[in-house]
Amino acid sequence: MSLLTANLDHLAVNSPNPESIANFYGRAMQMQVNQGQAGEYLCEGRERRMVFYPGDAKTLRYFAWNVPSAEALANLRNRIEDAGIQTRPSLSPFFDDTAFTVTDPDGHNLVVGCDASDRTRTPGLPARLQHFAFGTTNIQPMLDFYETTLGMRISDNVFADDGTLRSSFLRAGNEHHILAIFVAAQNAFDHHCYEAGEWNLIRDWADFLSEQDILLDWGPGRHGPGNNLFFMIRDPDTNWLEISAELELVTEDRPTGAWQHREKTLNSWGKAYLRS
Ligand SMILES: [Fe+2]
Repeated sequence: MSLLTANLDHLAVNSPNPESIANFYGRAMQMQVNQGQAGEYLCEGRERRMVFYPGDAKTLRYFAWNVPSAEALANLRNRIEDAGIQTRPSLSPFFDDTAFTVTDPDGHNLVVGCDASDRTRTPGLPARLQHFAFGTTNIQPMLDFYETTLGMRISDNVFADDGTLRSSFLRAGNEHHILAIFVAAQNAFDHHCYEAGEWNLIRDWADFLSEQDILLDWGPGRHGPGNNLFFMIRDPDTNWLEISAELELVTEDRPTGAWQHREKTLNSWGKAYLRS
């Protein structure tokens, strides 16, 4: 079965105050903010873009992946439809109308498009929108969808002492994960992450955020799965956003790793937040 190649392109997050949360992201993550056609707010910066819609706090309207070619886009759509799963028109204002939407077993909307535009020269500190995570009450159907139907691979799993699966980190290319799925009390958006690249940029981002009076909520630390350095801040709706550096790069034949469900797995330097 062919492996999926995709990158996280943008997230669409609902908020009771979409304008003010968009302005927060504009300030915190150095993005331009513009109003869209349907009451949404679009944030665009260096290798990162987000959309904010009116709606319930801490819910995800959709997430969007970019695939490398029009052919890859058509192949993925065929693969999904051949599995008996319906696709629908794109929900995203950023993609053209070749993009499509599919819904996962927990009801999350995934938009897949192909947009080759180069946003690496946009001004601002480096931090590419790179991964995000869901909490789920029923992880196996989610893994079946993302691994078997879409063609992702699991880089690492985390197990409780009784052997039950607690979380999985999935890749669609050479980065350790672009999606993490945690067993949690409810199906929910967990956090999203911007990959800065080098450790020194963790310092530069923390200094920049401090100048904006935006203080760290967790970290700095080092994750076990992915081996990345990180810190977390919270946006005005208390969504967690992560700045990461030095995320593990993997080869196609990397075996799936197994970790224990411990604080030290989530943060080898200290305190951690276990989802359940
Ligand atoms: Fe993360």
